[in-house]
Amino acid sequence: MQNNRITELFGIEYSIIQGGMVWVSGYKLASAVSNAGGLGLIGAGSMYPDVFREHIQKCKKATNKPFGVNLPLIYPDIDKMVAIVIEEGVQVVFTSAGNPNTWTSKLKAHGITVVHVVSSIKFALKAQEAGVDAVVAEGFEAGGHNGREETTTFTLIPMVKEQISIPLIAAGGIASGRGILAAEVLGADGVQIGSRFAVSEESSAHIKYKELITELQDGATQLTFKELAPVRIVKNNYYQKLLDLYKTHPTKETLQVFYNEAKLKTGIFEGDVVDGKIEIGQIAGLIHQVQSIKEIMSDMITEYQAVKKQLN
Ligand SMILES: Cc1cc2nc3c(=O)[nH]c(=O)nc-3n(C[C@H](O)[C@H](O)[C@H](O)COP(=O)(O)O)c2cc1C
Repeated sequence: MQNNRITELFGIEYSIIQGGMVWVSGYKLASAVSNAGGLGLIGAGSMYPDVFREHIQKCKKATNKPFGVNLPLIYPDIDKMVAIVIEEGVQVVFTSAGNPNTWTSKLKAHGITVVHVVSSIKFALKAQEAGVDAVVAEGFEAGGHNGREETTTFTLIPMVKEQISIPLIAAGGIASGRGILAAEVLGADGVQIGSRFAVSEESSAHIKYKELITELQDGATQLTFKELAPVRIVKNNYYQKLLDLYKTHPTKETLQVFYNEAKLKTGIFEGDVVDGKIEIGQIAGLIHQVQSIKEIMSDMITEYQAVKKQLN
C-alpha cells in the first residue's frame, strides 16, 4: 500500500481507518489498529463524558501512533464531548450523524483534523464547504446507521469522487484486501472498516455477538427503521418482532417506542443475540473467525498486495 493523501493527512502507514462503533470501539480496539499502522477511532456514541475521557487517556498510553475519536453529532452532551477532545489534545475527529457546519470550524480552530461521514453527493459537498479535511462516503452495505437512499458503495464512491476535491475515504462492505483495492480503483484514497474490526479480539463486543457474526451469510441483515433513522440490523428474533409490528401499520411514535426499548448495549455488549438489536454490515458473510487486529491487518494487506500484483 502506497503513501497517499490519507496516510499523509493522519501520519499513518496504511490508509485503513477503523470506524467508530458504539459498544465496540473503546481504547483497546482503537490503539490496536493504530499500533498495526492504521488509524483507530474511539467511538464516543456509547460513552458518558467521563468514560470517554478515560478511554482517550488510556489510548494515549496504549499507543504512540496517531489515533482519533468518532463523535456522532446527535449525541445529547456533544458540547461536553467536544470540550474533552480539545482538553485532551485529540488530533483527529470523525463526525457523523449531523450537520458538519456546527462543529467543524471550532475543532479546526484548535488544530484538529476533521473528517465527516456522509452517504450522498449532496452531503459530501456540504461537508467540503464546511471545511472538513476529508469525507467518509458510506454505502448502504455498511453496519450501523445508514443513508435512506440505499446508495451502494460501488456507486457512491465514483460519484462522490467526481464532485469533491478533498481526500475521499470509502466505507461500507469492505473487509478484505480485495475490497480495499476495489475501493481505491473506484477513486477512494482510503477505507473505513467497521464490521470486520467489530469481530476482532480487541473489540469490546460480547463474544456471543462475535460468534454470531462469524456464522452469518449473505442476506442475514436488513436496513430498517427507515421512518426514524435507517439502520442495518441482523434478521434475528428481534427483527421478526419488528416485522410483526410493521404488519400493524404502526405510527412513527409506536415504532420509536419499539426502537428505544431494545438497547444496543443488550445485543452487542451483553450478548443477547436472539432478542437483542444487533448491528453489523452486509459483509458479515465474509467474516469467518474472530482474529486479533494484528492478524486482520496483516491478512488484508497481504491479500491487497497479492491481488494488485496479479492484476498488474
Ligand atoms: C456495531 C456497529 C456500530 C457502529 N457505530 C457507529 C457509530 O457510533 N458512529 C459512526 O459514525 N458509525 C458507526 N458505525 C459504522 C462504522 O463506523 C463504519 O462506517 C461501517 O461499519 C463501515 O461499514 P462495514 O460495516 O461494512 O465495514 C457502526 C457500525 C457497526 C457495525
